[in-house]
Amino acid sequence: MIFGRVKSLDAILATAEKKGLHRTLGAFQLTMLGIGAVIGTGIFVLTSEAAQKAGPGMLLSFVVAGFVCAVAALCYSELASMVPVSGSAYTYTYAVTGELLAWMVGWALILEYAVGASAVAVGWSNHFVGFLDSAGVHLPSALRNANALMAHASVAFGTPTNADLQTAMSTGGWINIPAIVVVGFVTWLLVIGTTESARVNAVLVAIKIVALTAFIFLTLPVLNGAHFGGPNEPFMPTGTTGVLGAAASIFFAYVGFDAVSTAAEETKNPQRNVPIGLIGSLGICTLFYLLVASGAIGAIGAQPVMGPNGLPLAPGSAELAGRCANIAASGALEPLVCSKEALVHVLEVIDWPLIGRLVGLAAVFALPSVVLMMMFGQTRVFFTMARDGLLPEKLASIHPKYRTPHVVTVVTGFAAAFAAAVLPVGKLADYSNAGTLFAFFMVAVSVMVLRRTDPGRKRPFRTPAVWIVAPLAIIGCVGLYVSLPWTAILVLPVWGAIGLVIYFLYSRSRSHVGRGLVEVHELDADAPHSPGTA
Ligand code: ALA
Repeated sequence: MIFGRVKSLDAILATAEKKGLHRTLGAFQLTMLGIGAVIGTGIFVLTSEAAQKAGPGMLLSFVVAGFVCAVAALCYSELASMVPVSGSAYTYTYAVTGELLAWMVGWALILEYAVGASAVAVGWSNHFVGFLDSAGVHLPSALRNANALMAHASVAFGTPTNADLQTAMSTGGWINIPAIVVVGFVTWLLVIGTTESARVNAVLVAIKIVALTAFIFLTLPVLNGAHFGGPNEPFMPTGTTGVLGAAASIFFAYVGFDAVSTAAEETKNPQRNVPIGLIGSLGICTLFYLLVASGAIGAIGAQPVMGPNGLPLAPGSAELAGRCANIAASGALEPLVCSKEALVHVLEVIDWPLIGRLVGLAAVFALPSVVLMMMFGQTRVFFTMARDGLLPEKLASIHPKYRTPHVVTVVTGFAAAFAAAVLPVGKLADYSNAGTLFAFFMVAVSVMVLRRTDPGRKRPFRTPAVWIVAPLAIIGCVGLYVSLPWTAILVLPVWGAIGLVIYFLYSRSRSHVGRGLVEVHELDADAPHSPGTA
């Protein structure tokens, strides 16, 4: 029976008992942890991509994506409070729907975390390069992004050359060196066992909140109602499809709140505090996102740049990059959708260049911690899968001196650095979203299955109105997934197919559960605490 290999919840919980983490976190720290993991490249960079897809209607996109995350978060909380061990969605599905689906979730989480880390690294690179430029240090254009590489690739795959692509080929870069550097730095921190302390997290959260608040206060006085809809600037220039497409991409801005769920085992009174932490951090981020997006739209407008067929050019495409370079060369004002540092750009246009640079600097300081959170999540999932025998156990080995899972960390670092080096931020975020939506979908399914199959088990947190909330999460995840660009939609089945081949050729025969070796792992105690909790 293909779905027969279920890992016993009692064995998983015994592992958690062994680990015996202290319950020290309260609602406030959890909320800070959530905000620390959530605010990042999404709002600082992808705002311009969302505008390119939806125009001012991106405000609705932020609401839709936030809502899907909120219902998914409520489902996450129930499982996190019942099964408070490392591995998050992978572990929950192992216990509920069995090994094969758990493997698929773990495999999809690689997209969420490792590719997500690459996306944040590219967002960081945009701000770092902008900062260097403002300081008069100009990195050679070949080394600051991969636009020329993308342009050549799209021509090789059949896109007819045009002026925009040619500009991208001649002015764009080949490899994103700053993004590689930041991933390398974070990998090194994780190998030597530096996870972020609660204090560092609090400081970085404060920096981000101050930066976003400054942005809101400086843009509010110059809001122009005409930018929110009118004959020349329609509110939804690309219709509902555009709004949903932007929601599917901007979903990335909310990812990371699962860090709160995975800290459930370190939380006092999880029944009360985990949902407060999850919903609190999501609520605060949504509020900030809506205000920031309104500020950006109202200050300089957010109309998309259209292609020859009257449709918006794809965000992250070489064509859009080329068109934007042509606009800049013509001396015209760069539109929001062209900016690589959306918020900095808006402040520069409304004549606050110094504050704009400081906001950029805030991103330079704060985004590495988001990369760290995501890479950490990835190493935890890999570590747990390897320890279950589904990946080579060498991957789960612990460094003798630093007591960290150094092999998985370095492997993750190489993969994330490679993706960050050659792909644009929007595409990376979309690929990451495809994996995340699958994992959230499975979590929502698992909550309902477990309510039926194991109704008597203690649930420190119960999803309210689960028979409404979980189906809404499922519908929301599917709705956003089908609204992603088709390349991102394809990534999931292709990635899944590779995963299935590995599972049936390698993992299935070596699985500890399959071989009847369900032991309580001492090693879990070696897995580091969640960043930002200690
Ligand atoms: N939500 C995180 C970000 O936007 C991943 O960077």
